Amino acid sequence: MQQAKRIKNIPPYLFAEIDKKIALKKAEGIDVISLGIGDPVEPTPQHIIDTLCKQANNPENHRYPSYFGMPEFRKAIVNFCKKRFGLILDSDKEVLPLIGSKEGIAHVFLAFVDPGDIVLVPDPGYPVYNVGTIIAGGKPHYMPLLFENNFLPDLTKIEDEIAKRAKIMFIGYPNNPTSAIASIEFFKEVVFFAKKHDILVCHDNAYSEIAFDGYVPPSFLEVPGAKDVGIEFQSLSKTYNMTGWRIGFVVGNEAAIEALGRIKTNVDSGIFNAIQHAGIAALEGHQDCVKEMCDVYARRRAMVAKALNKMGLEFMIPKATIYVWAKVPSGHTSASFAAYILEKAGVVVSPGNAYGPSGEGYIRITLSVKDDRLREALKRIENSL
Ligand SMILES: Cc1ncc(COP(=O)(O)O)c(C=O)c1O
Repeated sequence: MQQAKRIKNIPPYLFAEIDKKIALKKAEGIDVISLGIGDPVEPTPQHIIDTLCKQANNPENHRYPSYFGMPEFRKAIVNFCKKRFGLILDSDKEVLPLIGSKEGIAHVFLAFVDPGDIVLVPDPGYPVYNVGTIIAGGKPHYMPLLFENNFLPDLTKIEDEIAKRAKIMFIGYPNNPTSAIASIEFFKEVVFFAKKHDILVCHDNAYSEIAFDGYVPPSFLEVPGAKDVGIEFQSLSKTYNMTGWRIGFVVGNEAAIEALGRIKTNVDSGIFNAIQHAGIAALEGHQDCVKEMCDVYARRRAMVAKALNKMGLEFMIPKATIYVWAKVPSGHTSASFAAYILEKAGVVVSPGNAYGPSGEGYIRITLSVKDDRLREALKRIENSL
């Protein structure tokens, strides 16, 4: 049996590797606390679960779903984007439901990237941007996200030669893993750059609803002209504690949505209709549940901030997302510090370099863990230092 050359270039998925490490430690009898993966521990709000249960009992929903999602779900997406971001979208042409946003992100490269093409990838970044590029035969070109530039890519540093060969630019704010946020001014720069170089912008807005201190994250598509060059990925996962349900969507440029849809219709068969009904309940139901979760994360953010200050580790208080991006103590690398904490404290954190070379020197701490476990984890880390 011979594997394709393609797979030799694909690293194992970061969180699958972290899961393996946790399993090994647990087998040694250690009570491991994971501050690694961003996966809400609170349940999905009840009205969403009730909708799923009701719809799961309807045999109409047991058949293949529509390839392009239920029209009612697409309309709910349009209404949500109008209410939340003021966007005007055509529910038939500018909206596509996804089996989780990761699915759409991974597939978009197949629609736009030929072997040898360049993709502008944030570094550090959500690992699928990089790996999706490689799977399509493309070449990731890293755009460093540095502290001194508020973790935004410096577009002036991208040479014309590279920009000319680039097919896609991926960005995502509020950002994973750095938790940085972007202004509309920055998005305007991106639109200008993309128009100049004929590049598709893929904006990942998976954390748009998880924000603090009155901050309201914008959509990239709010910028005039953004729809000419871009699409935006959205997820119900973090907003409604629905990571296990696998539901998200992409909105924006019609031609890009059509191309991604063409790949998808040939690869998958859509989202279980009962889950789409639950998605409608989520998007159209009361949003108090989202506010409640933001309050929970804000409380945990304060706990982490207090502990990191006590430990003398540098970090920025995040205005959004469920992560805190912190510098490792001097003398440590990301990997050595993550390994040290696991060994001495039985606590898992994500090493920053796993998100790209510019993540070196950082760790990412997730807030999606119950308060008592978070408190215990922080105490153990503090004691280990
Ligand atoms: C930045 C970012 N984008 C996309 C995703 C994928 O989310 P999902 O596939 O659950 O919608 C994640 C998940 O952690 C993420 O952090």
